[in-house]
Amino acid sequence: MPLVAPSLLASNFLRLEDECKMLNESEADWLHLDVMDGRFVPNISFGLPVIEHIRTATKKVCDVHLMIVEPEKYIEDFKKAGADVLTIHYEASNHLHRIVQQIKSLGMQAGISLNPHTPVALLEDILEDVDMILIMSVNPGFGGQKFIPQSFKRIRQLRQMIDERGLNVKIEVDGGVTVENAGPLVQAGVDVLVAGNTVFKSKDPKATIAALKRAG
Ligand code: DX5
Ligand code: ZN
Repeated sequence: MPLVAPSLLASNFLRLEDECKMLNESEADWLHLDVMDGRFVPNISFGLPVIEHIRTATKKVCDVHLMIVEPEKYIEDFKKAGADVLTIHYEASNHLHRIVQQIKSLGMQAGISLNPHTPVALLEDILEDVDMILIMSVNPGFGGQKFIPQSFKRIRQLRQMIDERGLNVKIEVDGGVTVENAGPLVQAGVDVLVAGNTVFKSKDPKATIAALKRAG
């Protein structure tokens, strides 16, 4: 069974406490939190003070996806705000190895995310140091975009790299995930399904989460 990580970006920001309560009662495993700075991506979402408050309302694992430049400046801040899993972008740093070590030394799980154009093969020498790879299946910056089909090939390739080395690295997929493509994604090797619009814009978010949980 995959882990399901609803992305709060698609929720009603006026009712964050209620959204957290709904998720607490659901089968969701993680809560996916998208931090955008208007520089790494052409959009601005929310940051540290919002996550601090969400931490007090959620029982779920806080899965923070940093879409920011110079992520190394804020690693400790996100730990303090309550991140359990912290993912930075491959394209956002020249010092991935150092940042990954820093994230892990603070007791968080470390993830690296790849934009759709970044070859999976570039992970060769960092794969064994991380807990998770996040494959972006849309161009980061916005919720509600269409899934890029080539992501399947990338996920299969990454699954093979991980399995060949016998590593315990999770694959997370983010962007355009639906109840329909969730099954094939899990079969291709995905461990964590992120879903924003599919969950929050559905008539019954808890039932949708349950359906994603049973995908594959
Ligand atoms: C996009 C974000 C995603 C976004 C996904 O840059 O990283 O987490 O919330 O939204 P959906 O599931 O609606 O594509
Ligand atoms: Zn995300």
